[in-house]
Amino acid sequence: MEERKGFGTNFGFLMAAVGSAVGLGNIWGFPNKMGASGGFTFLIIYLILAVCCGFIVMVGELAIGRKTGKGAVAAYHAISKKFKWMGWMGILSAFLILFFYCALGGYCIKYTVVNIGDLFNASFGSGAAAELAAANDTSVGAEVFGAFIGNPTEAIIYGLIFVALTMLIVLGGVGGGIEKVCSVGMPALFVALLICIIRACTLPGAVNGLKYMFVPGWAVTNGVIEKAPDFLTVLATAGGQMFFSLSLGMGAMITYGSYLQKKENIQKNALLIVIMDTLVALMAGLCVLPGRFALDPNGALGGPKLLFITMQNVFDRMDAVGPIFGIIFYLLVVFAAISSSISLLEVIVAHFVDKARDEGKGDKRKAYTLIAAACVGLGCILVCADALGTTGFAPGNLLGMTGDLPTWAADWLDFFDMLSEGIMMPLGAMLMSLMIGWEIGPEVIKGEVEQSGHAMGSYGFFKICVKFITPLCMILILYGQIKEFFF
Ligand code: PHE
Repeated sequence: MEERKGFGTNFGFLMAAVGSAVGLGNIWGFPNKMGASGGFTFLIIYLILAVCCGFIVMVGELAIGRKTGKGAVAAYHAISKKFKWMGWMGILSAFLILFFYCALGGYCIKYTVVNIGDLFNASFGSGAAAELAAANDTSVGAEVFGAFIGNPTEAIIYGLIFVALTMLIVLGGVGGGIEKVCSVGMPALFVALLICIIRACTLPGAVNGLKYMFVPGWAVTNGVIEKAPDFLTVLATAGGQMFFSLSLGMGAMITYGSYLQKKENIQKNALLIVIMDTLVALMAGLCVLPGRFALDPNGALGGPKLLFITMQNVFDRMDAVGPIFGIIFYLLVVFAAISSSISLLEVIVAHFVDKARDEGKGDKRKAYTLIAAACVGLGCILVCADALGTTGFAPGNLLGMTGDLPTWAADWLDFFDMLSEGIMMPLGAMLMSLMIGWEIGPEVIKGEVEQSGHAMGSYGFFKICVKFITPLCMILILYGQIKEFFF
């Protein structure tokens, strides 16, 4: 039978797993949520949740993956009677996230191109948008974004380019494609981020960005937000953000864990992934928020508008070097998105490739990667054509809803996000901890972690968390997420 090839080195695995975790969530989600939800206080709550829930589920997923040596569906099948079906929920989540992730990744490629155009004063730069901005009394970023949203064909082309890039890397396999790209790309991303941080933090007025992000209550006192959120909301915001950011609850880490060599230390790797993901989220804040407060003080602080309007304004107003930083920044975001999208596509591909191999059909990676990417392409076209709900066939429109549409119904991006990030991922993580705590037993995880010869020093803590603390936190987080999306 064909051999199942995995990561060649622990460094390669670590970079791929951190690459999966570091993505759009770190850049446009974390900094703004931290600022709007209590600054430093939010960070402490986030860290506590990351240790009591994130680290626990991370160890669980990596261990289950490595123990079974299978993708998400077969791994759950092999290990549990009651939760067999959860692997399929992971595959569905992967598709839904990819639909909007690829559309956004495509937008980022477009912005890299715009900044290259600006550098060379070319027609595809933001020149036309600048003229419109002066005539309409808007901003360059708003006009670039408006023109792009108003041209779904262009958005579709860029989205499909992003799908194709993701597909090419996954076609290369885990060791040959994913590991190679992440081993070079993640350190490069780190350096690019450092360069952008130095530029952003030395702008006059940058300090307000730091105050917004770190000082508790600053956002309310200075009128950036109206009122402070209550504790439960903060908890839910931190928890929801953490699960999405760590790529948990949908099989990505099970899949990557299944390719991890038996001699490697799961406990240490899990801790490093959590630490590095949080570090990059904080660093992203040091890059985007000082820029926003210095150069676009009324700009959006989070979400797509932060990336595609505010940040473009920041580069536009920087001075002659603006386009250079624009290129570095958007390339960095494109890479953060790609290293996440390859892990999402691998969740889907790994399942079908494993199944074919087990049935003696040989290595079917090529065929299944092409089929999965084609399906993702269709979803991506839908999200791009919807142009954030501006073209009249948002879910709410199709359902015949009238008046002000709730966020989840206002556009397809938010609809897919609500289903995956809002419901399926926290649900997946909650059921995973219940499965480990109460069905298969935490000692199974200990056995897998320790078979490499590394003692599981955190076992006592792991056991208490996985049985009681993690599921309890998850219920609160799930409740908060549903409340946020629907009410
Ligand atoms: N962790 C990624 C981010 O922060 C998103 C992601 C979720 C990637 C699930 C893979 C799996 O943007």
